[in-house]
Amino acid sequence: MSEDLKNETVETEDPQIVIKDLWKIYGRDPKRVLGKNLRTLSKDEVQKKTGCIIGMREINLEVKKGEFYILMGLSGSGKSTLVRNLIRLVNPTSGTIHINGENITKMNSEQLLHFRRKTFGMVFQHYGLLPHLTVLDNAAYGLKVKGLPKGERYAKAMQSLETVGLKGWEDYYPGSLSGGMQQRVGLARALANDPEILLMDEPFSGLDPLIRRQMQDELVELQDKLQKTIIFVTHDLHEALKLGDKIAIMRNGEVVQVGSPEEIVTQPNDDYVAEFVKDASPAKVLTASSIMDPAKVLLYAWEGPKTALTLLRKNNRKAAFVVDKSHKLLGVAKEKVIEKMIEEGHSKIPAESLMKVTSVTPDTILEDLFPIVTEHPFPIPVCNENGKFQGIVTTDHIFESISPVEEGESNG
Ligand SMILES: Nc1ncnc2c1ncn2[C@@H]1O[C@H](COP(=O)(O)OP(=O)(O)O)[C@@H](O)[C@H]1O
Ligand SMILES: [Mg+2]
Repeated sequence: MSEDLKNETVETEDPQIVIKDLWKIYGRDPKRVLGKNLRTLSKDEVQKKTGCIIGMREINLEVKKGEFYILMGLSGSGKSTLVRNLIRLVNPTSGTIHINGENITKMNSEQLLHFRRKTFGMVFQHYGLLPHLTVLDNAAYGLKVKGLPKGERYAKAMQSLETVGLKGWEDYYPGSLSGGMQQRVGLARALANDPEILLMDEPFSGLDPLIRRQMQDELVELQDKLQKTIIFVTHDLHEALKLGDKIAIMRNGEVVQVGSPEEIVTQPNDDYVAEFVKDASPAKVLTASSIMDPAKVLLYAWEGPKTALTLLRKNNRKAAFVVDKSHKLLGVAKEKVIEKMIEEGHSKIPAESLMKVTSVTPDTILEDLFPIVTEHPFPIPVCNENGKFQGIVTTDHIFESISPVEEGESNG
């Protein structure tokens, strides 16, 4: 096995949430729907024949720790049913859910209560705040239920309110707060307990568009710090693309596609998914890593200026990127500068002599690349979080990747 492969194996950890063959049938005697004659019928047919409603059908999903996981689909597609099953506010008709290796579908009510309080924070569309309690008491509510002493729960709730930008509002009542602020209280309440997993069921759907966008931005920032596992329900594609690491699309209780935002937008599985993503701009989902090229000429600082000059001339270049032994990008060396190094008798290319350049990370979306490429005349280097050089993006390639594909030109 190569070194690279080994590293990858080490990084892959077990998923935190594993859902297997999960069904939820609402109605009388739901198990009969799982019998071999009924289970293959459509949701409508099952309802006509039995009066039962398929809430979820044969769901198989895995969510990694720290992943921002989006459930998207039309109203009635089973998103809330799935989220509620995760904390067993609704019990599945069949199938299993493992969280941190524990089968929660087997837990008794006492185990479940304990597990829920320890593991989950939940934020709903309707904030679910208690109107007769202050903002602080609302934020501390879960901790009170958990039995924490007053001092401790207030300290935690204060901290959590500060995290969501509500410092100074502790003594107000929810009724005097705007929708956006009430939802912040809801979020603070969910975070106060420092849960491993946040479940958010259309938390921003009731908010005005502007406030909504602001809340999304803040959640992105917050998640960057908190690194929680988040299951987030929305039927808004733009929200999904902005927030999600992964998106599962649901229809009639089934998951019809799972993928990164980029995969969902560029390779929809069927017409239903395509319809969902038709307004998505590739510039918002395509990333630098997906459109980068290898550098045609790359100079190695330790090989020295003479080798560098030979390489440049052989390739007919006036300048090239330079990396060090760990493949970290040091800058750009111009032909003139290299010639001077040779005159001065350098045996290696000194990092200080190089032109510093702006680089981008592999996950930079095209939309954020535009202003950078227009400002810089060179190809833009792509470096990972450790500064290691990965490739380059060029203006041409960026515009190519967002221009519509001509008939007959696809299937590259
Ligand atoms: N308590 C319930 N009793 C009967 N049917 C339900 C119940 N809750 C949800 N459903 C049905 O299950 C399906 C999925 O609903 P839901 O999970 O609320 O979808 P979503 O959150 O995607 O809008 C819908 O057809 C809905 O009518
Ligand atoms: Mg719902």
